[in-house]
Amino acid sequence: MRIGILGSGLMGGKLGTIFARAGHEVVFSYARSEQKLKKLGRHGTPRDAVQDADAVLLAVHWSRVDDVLKQAGDVSGKVIVSCSLPMNADDTGLVVAHTSSGAEVLAKKISKARVVSAFNTVPSEVLFGVFAARRKARRPSLLYCGDDASSKQVAAVLIHDVGFEPVDAGPLRIARYTEPFALLVAQLAYEGDEGPELAYRFERFGGKA
Ligand SMILES: NC(=O)c1ccc[n+]([C@@H]2O[C@H](COP(=O)([O-])OP(=O)(O)OC[C@H]3O[C@@H](n4cnc5c(N)ncnc54)[C@H](OP(=O)(O)O)[C@@H]3O)[C@@H](O)[C@H]2O)c1
Repeated sequence: MRIGILGSGLMGGKLGTIFARAGHEVVFSYARSEQKLKKLGRHGTPRDAVQDADAVLLAVHWSRVDDVLKQAGDVSGKVIVSCSLPMNADDTGLVVAHTSSGAEVLAKKISKARVVSAFNTVPSEVLFGVFAARRKARRPSLLYCGDDASSKQVAAVLIHDVGFEPVDAGPLRIARYTEPFALLVAQLAYEGDEGPELAYRFERFGGKA
């Protein structure tokens, strides 16, 4: 697939690099330093990243979402995989919660795009390790949710390519539960040396797993 990265920081830089290693064509965009984008590989403006993309990863701070979308232009029909959490300015809490979620607010902003919420329940620190261990028998689970079946399939492929077992958590409104959960994960990741390792080890509940 061709994947456009909107926000090439900790999450976008790492996930984009892994997608490229997994064989996808990746276009990085949106960082303050051109030098940094150059180091990551093929890069351009947000508009370049979105154009012809089969999937777009949205990986900017919540406060930058409007800016990056404005620069990206028309995203009608695009699969937008968002790992962005609706964090406040000092990253201490969610500005959207309980009766809605960042993913749902985003889907309303870009109602002609197909939004999937994924990758926000994992700390960026563990992504390369998960990718390196992807051939091991037991993969860590990763939740995703969305309202459009075909875009969820695209997200599931990407999640699998990184080395996780994709777990469909249901419609986009389930992000009301996964986003606070993701915030807890992030808090755990900052506790002690083993924090990031512990934080992503969620397993499926019940069933055959
Ligand atoms: N990091 C994690 O472990 C983690 C886990 C779960 C979810 N998330 C979510 O993922 C999203 C991205 O997080 P992150 O940690 O990857 O953030 P980050 O490292 O700050 O990356 C954001 C990117 O946006 C760019 N940016 C910020 N302001 C800009 C501006 N004015 N113009 C152009 N580019 C600008 C940054 O550029 P520079 O590189 O130049 O700073 C960076 O490339 C957030 O919504 C966060 O809540 C993160």
